[in-house]
Amino acid sequence: MCCETDISLIADESVILQQIFEIMIKSHIKGIGHYVPDHIVTNDDLAKVMNTNDEWITERTGIKERRHRENRNDSEITTAYLGMKASERAIADAGLTAQDIDYIVFATLSPDYFFPGCGVQLQHMLGCGTIGALDVRNQCSGFVYAMSVADAFIKTGLYKNILVVGAEIHSFGLDMSDRGRGVSVIFGDGAGAVVLSATEDENAGDILAVNMHSEGQYAEELCTKFPGTKYGWSDRLLREPDAVTADEIYPYMNGNFVFKHAVTRFPETIKEALDKAGKTAEDLDLFIPHQANLRIAQFVQKQLGLSDDQVFNNIQKYGNTTAASIPIALSEAIEQGRLKRGDLLCMSTFGSGFTWGSVLLEY
Ligand code: UT7
Repeated sequence: MCCETDISLIADESVILQQIFEIMIKSHIKGIGHYVPDHIVTNDDLAKVMNTNDEWITERTGIKERRHRENRNDSEITTAYLGMKASERAIADAGLTAQDIDYIVFATLSPDYFFPGCGVQLQHMLGCGTIGALDVRNQCSGFVYAMSVADAFIKTGLYKNILVVGAEIHSFGLDMSDRGRGVSVIFGDGAGAVVLSATEDENAGDILAVNMHSEGQYAEELCTKFPGTKYGWSDRLLREPDAVTADEIYPYMNGNFVFKHAVTRFPETIKEALDKAGKTAEDLDLFIPHQANLRIAQFVQKQLGLSDDQVFNNIQKYGNTTAASIPIALSEAIEQGRLKRGDLLCMSTFGSGFTWGSVLLEY
């Protein structure tokens, strides 16, 4: 009898604590920044090295140009380096210093090393203290997943200022021959970062709803197989270097299949986030889709009945930068005055895994 009473008291207490956290601590975007390499690669540039053309790329994807690091084999301009440049801007925008950051979440599919991840690289590059640094490996959905981790850590009172980064260098690993044209024309390099901070200010914005999903049975519909424990690693490369095929070392994408899933999952995840927060598509001031393909974004816009003013795309300039695409777009949207404090923003994604999800927030 005595024990039963104790357990119910503990249960009540945890519910009350959860309610206190939810009421008092908000996850607020305090600062944002992005960084892309200067080197612009146009569709015509690509047509010089592979059998493609501006018309095909523009019609199918909306992309006109993307950024690549100048030297394909540069060992200094790495993913962590791009992440650092974006982070410096985000930290300055937040009015903070690197010493104020108490956790890093770094999303990328193109890390500097096979291991360790880019988060620890960034901790060192920025000169943060010995804070925790987590890598998120969810490809195009990396930034949404990373924001959800940071939001949870802030809402439970664990950390106050979390640096959330999405960064990629794709250019080093793309097949620039005709064989790779279905993938290589799409991807670009870049980085975006957000400082997500705890606040109790009643006028500050907050993350209102988050959802994430996955369907791992489709892992090989969009993936790079090598190196890994399934298709082989350094041992295989040393033993039989000639047997490692282009199909394994370059990214593979079943474009049509991915496209069909994306146009179904995007509206689902957005609606799920809006429903959870008691909002509708009409309430949205801005929708930022992961910049996978302009046709996908336009399809989703139509499905949701959103006006052009409610949607932000910049894939035309940067291509698909996977984990970096949403924070780069968010940073540019704010720079251009498309998103203001107090506005309702939905950021949604779909990509390799398959993974998909949304973050709905008041900026
Ligand atoms: O961010 C992660 C999530 N990714 C996505 O959401 C991407 C989803 N998928 C897509 O965006 C589209 O499927 C692509 C843009 C990748 C491809 O567009 P598509 O309309 O599905 O084209 P396709 O793959 O069916 O190819 C059509 C034709 C083929 O020629 P044939 O067989 O009809 O003669 C391809 O060989 O276009 C050819 N092709 C190209 N032609 C010129 C493929 N790539 C190129 C190219 N330039 N770069």
